[in-house]
Amino acid sequence: MSFSYVEDVLPGNGALPPRAWYAESSAASLSLNGAWRFRLSETADAHDDSFAAEGYGEGDDAGEWAEVTVPGHWVLQGHGAPLYTNHLYPFPVDPPHVPAENPTGDHLRVFDLPDGWPADDGGATLRFDGVESCARVWLNGTGIGEFKGSRLPHEFAVGHLLRPTGNVLAVRVHQWSAGSYLEDQDQWWLPGIFRDVTLLHRPADGALDFFVHASYDHTAGTGTLRVDSDVNGRVTVDGLGVEVATGETVTVPVEPWTAETPRLYAGALDTGGERVPLRIGFRTVELSDGLIKVNGVPVLFKGVNRHEWHPERGRALDLETMRRDVELMKAHNINAVRTSHYPPHPAFLDLCDEYGLWVIDECDLETHGFVEQGWRDNPVDDDRWTPALLDRAARMVERDKNHPSVVVWSLGNEAGTGRGLTAMAEWIRGRDPERLIHYEGDANCRDVDVYSRMYADHAEVDRIGRGLDGGPSHRRALPFILCEYAHAMGNGPGGLADYQRLFAAHDRLQGAFVWEWIDHGIADERYGYAYGGDFGEELHDGNFVCDGLLFPDRTPSPGLLEFKKVIEPVRFEIDATAGTVRVTNRFDFRDLSGLTFTWSYEEEDEGAVASGPLTVPALGPGESTELKLPRDRAGSPDGWTLRALDADGHEVAWGRPEVTTAAVRAARFPGRSGTRPVPGPDRITVGPGVFDARTGTALSIGGVEVVGPRLDVWRAPTDNDNGASWQNDERLGLLWRRLGLHRVRHRADAVEVTDDALTVRGRSAPAGTDIGLRTLFRWSADEELLRLAVSVVPEGDWRVPLPRLGVRLGLPGGADAVRWFGGGPGEAYPDTRAASRVGRWESTVDALQTPYVRPQENGARADVRWAEIGGLRVEGSPDFFFTARRWTTEHLDAAEHLTDLVPGDTVWLNLDHALQGIGSQSCGPGVLPQYRLTPGSAEFTFTFRTC
Ligand code: GAL
Repeated sequence: MSFSYVEDVLPGNGALPPRAWYAESSAASLSLNGAWRFRLSETADAHDDSFAAEGYGEGDDAGEWAEVTVPGHWVLQGHGAPLYTNHLYPFPVDPPHVPAENPTGDHLRVFDLPDGWPADDGGATLRFDGVESCARVWLNGTGIGEFKGSRLPHEFAVGHLLRPTGNVLAVRVHQWSAGSYLEDQDQWWLPGIFRDVTLLHRPADGALDFFVHASYDHTAGTGTLRVDSDVNGRVTVDGLGVEVATGETVTVPVEPWTAETPRLYAGALDTGGERVPLRIGFRTVELSDGLIKVNGVPVLFKGVNRHEWHPERGRALDLETMRRDVELMKAHNINAVRTSHYPPHPAFLDLCDEYGLWVIDECDLETHGFVEQGWRDNPVDDDRWTPALLDRAARMVERDKNHPSVVVWSLGNEAGTGRGLTAMAEWIRGRDPERLIHYEGDANCRDVDVYSRMYADHAEVDRIGRGLDGGPSHRRALPFILCEYAHAMGNGPGGLADYQRLFAAHDRLQGAFVWEWIDHGIADERYGYAYGGDFGEELHDGNFVCDGLLFPDRTPSPGLLEFKKVIEPVRFEIDATAGTVRVTNRFDFRDLSGLTFTWSYEEEDEGAVASGPLTVPALGPGESTELKLPRDRAGSPDGWTLRALDADGHEVAWGRPEVTTAAVRAARFPGRSGTRPVPGPDRITVGPGVFDARTGTALSIGGVEVVGPRLDVWRAPTDNDNGASWQNDERLGLLWRRLGLHRVRHRADAVEVTDDALTVRGRSAPAGTDIGLRTLFRWSADEELLRLAVSVVPEGDWRVPLPRLGVRLGLPGGADAVRWFGGGPGEAYPDTRAASRVGRWESTVDALQTPYVRPQENGARADVRWAEIGGLRVEGSPDFFFTARRWTTEHLDAAEHLTDLVPGDTVWLNLDHALQGIGSQSCGPGVLPQYRLTPGSAEFTFTFRTC
């Protein structure tokens, strides 16, 4: 038999024309999801098609076969292994050829028609919602076709082949095919029937394709509806009193659909033989005045890129997981999704309609690996492939065209440029002129309606916002989005707030989409979560696949909490001195009437002392007002917290005063009468502190044994510190290591006891270089309180910022509970501190850790005034960053997976005067200048006492 279809550039054979997807209708349907018999072969041609022959699956022929769950990927069910590459094809680039080693899964499913399956001969359609990457299908021994286009639906007419019982559905799935050249997205390669398989009864006069056109005229407040349908019928919308024929236009007063106000009207299309429920959202998308407008209003995308991911099931997502994604997005103020880089499971778009999210629906197309050969032979610039590209465009548009949430079609991702893309754009524009077109690779914006970039740095985005970006004049007239920015790999992304300020400042900047929504870690007994290379791949890109705002189990990362704060739709600017707050509505469409507001006032040492409701008028979009704070407080000016809550009591936004803390800090170090240090032969005592007389190292404080403190400048480099392999910019993680900052040695030059202090002078420096840091630790005390004043002076030609600057201190391993006053509850770094709320917090050492899939620096709390742990209270002046771990930084640095982190018998504290920012250089720009920790002279103080 012929296997030529595998390497055929054409999309397939036998499938029905693509059409609109709908979740349900009055027609009968039968899900064929569930357990299927399964046989894996190493090559496409290992077996002939006898397994598909009639009767094969009925007896014991398939008795030796394994079983897999459909939807699913066989490599996640114990057959073969997943493999991860970013852009490199994991096979020789020789289009359209694929390797002889082509894992091929034969799937068999025997089914009976359920009781009550209509006996008429209207027909039946077999629908595959997603199969990676190429499938050939037989029903009851008859070949019905083969197809490619993994994340797109394919339907086949099978009515003539069905029988009441014992139907044998045979599906042969090849991991590699010509289609793989078009599906080089940065993700795991996961073959299988990974979306639903459904048998749909097609009654006589059943619906075929239909197109719901529902626009909104914001000047008149009316919606105009027309449903074009292949099969004529009636359209009803009860809530609007609408009953019209298909093809007929009706205009009625409506409430519009927006992502903020997702008003859907329940309706139905009745074609005589079938009644299809409709969910209609009236809205008009247009490009006008150089802006993307919906219902006449420019929108600001606060978006994420969403790959489909589940740590056990890969891209085979169930409805609950999809709903969880949407609920998490809404709960974190996200208003837009780019379905990177393929159309999602169709039910996801239903959820976007229902909950309200702007969607950029992206086609299943990426040929990124051709970049390695200067884009030579790129399929998108080769006419032989154009039918496949058009097929993909049509399958996306036809399937998803009835979703109000979809406002922009995207041709694909990172596929270079070429005639095929232009053909797709032209086809889409002809079929659906009522939406906009996006493709980031179209630098001159020939085919698209929006200028889109990925990872442009702040300065460039600012220039674009000001219209100073050059390029063809046509492009300069277009709105701008960052379809990807803020690479959320590991700790980070940094600089979100700085981007958001730019988006707020320039109309042309219509927002951005964080890369990306969720880490694609695979649940794995060996490692907790596995990433690239953990399955013995020849080529792989390591943990570059773990770069999301959610951890693989969908726990929000600190990055998501930061994003939520940065994009919050209500802004509070508190002037504690004047006792006022300016409240601004940053929604595009909603007023504030659906929210409730509260104030609370907290004293540093007492916790919340007063709180109550705040009356805020129903400000319209963009409006702001100044209100009096309800009570004048005499205490600390930074005690105020204002909050906006939705109807469920969920916090949407909050505000605290910007505090200049000099006054606060000064109050923390009252002058006290000092005690004299007491020198001895081995030990020196300074108030509650006992020191080694030779080295000047602290041994105990108030009876609590300690290790150190000593100067510390090292942190386990984050993915963003390390930067991306292709970057020529300063990649700090690598430079730091080259300089030896991970192996700094410490020398004490002098241990001096005077009347009022113990002073230890020293120098910290790595081998092989003359640069270093001169240190002076000055210890003084009264009866209860031990004070350490640190002064650091860099020596030599430092050309890199420091990872951190502070002291490291070991405490007995029993230390667990932590209390502090400062930023919390989560981690924060200089450029990721928007969501850090100054107040009183408590936690445990374990809970302070952020479980980045590849271990790295994490867990610092910012703006800390005091912290209590292991019986010690530390206060800082100025405020400090606080970190506590059960392993050293060196262990953290060496770990590759979370399972490598084994608690030791010391709890290590880092009390940092300063930290280098985080940035986004694991794919994008590095740390902004204002967040760099440039070496310079520094002085800072900590006081210690028991508690
Ligand atoms: C982009 C690409 C994404 C992803 C990201 C890095 O270039 O479009 O698919 O690879 O970089 O994580």
